[in-house]
Amino acid sequence: MILNEDVKKHVDGILEKHGKNKKELINIIQEIQKEYRYLPEDVLIYLSDKLDISQSKIYGVATFYENFSLEPKGKNIIKVCDGTACHVRKSIPILNAIKKELCLNEKKHTTDDMIFTLETVSCLGACGLAPVITVNEKVYPKMTPESVVELINEIRKEEM
Ligand code: FES
Repeated sequence: MILNEDVKKHVDGILEKHGKNKKELINIIQEIQKEYRYLPEDVLIYLSDKLDISQSKIYGVATFYENFSLEPKGKNIIKVCDGTACHVRKSIPILNAIKKELCLNEKKHTTDDMIFTLETVSCLGACGLAPVITVNEKVYPKMTPESVVELINEIRKEEM
């Protein structure tokens, strides 16, 4: 991301809201993540400058919390549970069906059109509904490779 004046203005607004307080660093980073769906490197460098906090400390925070991402993410984040309950009820074929449908692999987690990001998680806390996936936190229970492809197509239509 190129840090243009609009982005700077926006980040300045977030900083003002938090009184440019170093102790608010996590909340500030959270807002930036929410806005851009990831933490652009240029924005983190800008924050370091504005808050007078070292870049290494900012990166430390940005990489410590699982919810923060340094990579751009798609608009729809699909999480496939591969915890024990989901695994024994065949979560892997679901995961493979999504990868195939979206042309993703172990290294590529986000589609080129930035519509989807695929992640795996160890338990979504809904084991009784296994195998489970979520799309932007909405839970989809008892999925199959076929139903997940249908769901992707529905989302694609909505995005058109
Ligand atoms: S193991 Fe999948 S929801 Fe718990």
